[in-house]
Amino acid sequence: MTVKKIALTGIKPSGSPHIGNFLGAIKPALELTKDHEARYFIADYHALTTVRDKKLLKEQVYDLAATWLAAGLNPDEVVFYRQSDIPEVFELSWILSCLTAKGLLNRAHSYKDSVDKNIEKAKDPDEGINCGLYYYPILMASDILAFNTDVVPVGQDQKQHLEITRDIAQAFNMAYGEVFTIPNAIIHEDVKTIPGVDGRKMSKSYNNVIPLFASQQELKKAVSQIVTDSKGVDEPKDPDQCKLFSIYSHFATVKDIEKTRAKYMSGGLGYGDLKKELVDLIDNVVSEGRKTYESLINNRERIDWILEEGAEKARMIAGPLLQKVRHAIGMQ
Ligand code: ADP
Ligand code: TRP
Repeated sequence: MTVKKIALTGIKPSGSPHIGNFLGAIKPALELTKDHEARYFIADYHALTTVRDKKLLKEQVYDLAATWLAAGLNPDEVVFYRQSDIPEVFELSWILSCLTAKGLLNRAHSYKDSVDKNIEKAKDPDEGINCGLYYYPILMASDILAFNTDVVPVGQDQKQHLEITRDIAQAFNMAYGEVFTIPNAIIHEDVKTIPGVDGRKMSKSYNNVIPLFASQQELKKAVSQIVTDSKGVDEPKDPDQCKLFSIYSHFATVKDIEKTRAKYMSGGLGYGDLKKELVDLIDNVVSEGRKTYESLINNRERIDWILEEGAEKARMIAGPLLQKVRHAIGMQ
């Protein structure tokens, strides 16, 4: 019998899950469950770097859990849990922080971007930046390393976090021997970064998302907001510069994409018509899941129960690994 590789990924409950999360992380993660041992979780302590409303945070945890389950996650096959239920992760994060060069975190994109924005506005470089944001990559490394992870399905924006995780794991193994598996990111070349309705990266933090299991009406509204230029129906358009076309190509068949590309270039297809087609295409993909989502979100006890069971299974994996780490560093 061949030993299955271990896949792990997490999503922050920091807003409504969107089609970028689905295409970049959830769908590839669910595909991996066919031939991997899978550990997928809700990164609620990562969300604490930005979310201050405790009621909202709880709602968003339920929203994300229902989304994973409605997208097809089977909790009998996948260890599915909430990060905050696994104390081993937080103990490991302190240990790892002691082996991480501060300079490595200074270069982390999201911290660096926040500093650069402050400098641009002639503010104090660290204004409004909490230590959690700075420390974020270490907590993420702990999430991954505490579970012997081989592969991490994520979107392009997480590439640097995976590089940092690998650096930290290697530093630990150099100092104490081969304790950690060195994980690899799985980033689908064809997905990379899904644009939001305003053309920037689709993100819960930018208010520019196409929500995944929202009502048909909300879906229509979000798609209608995708920004395009003002070319009329008959004018030729450049598919490679158009965010609407880019989102469309993640849902249409190869044949239809080619047809639409040709119509864009010759003129004769209006943005409004393509938006209508896109709504139907997305609706086709999500309509089954939407029903499951709606029934789950009204059955919170079931979600609680699934996450508690998942946490028990997860601790049975992270517990022994932490024993090994404590032993390696001379704490036991
Ligand atoms: P957000 O930026 O919306 O807060 P998260 O940071 O919680 O999303 O990301 C969860 C997962 O979804 C990560 O693997 C991330 O790379 C992926 N992801 C998020 N936004 C996109 C996007 N626009 N395109 C592709 N993948 C994405
Ligand atoms: N940082 C990831 C994001 O913003 C979420 C995350 C937290 C994660 N821990 C992780 C992803 C571990 C993969 C593995 O999207």
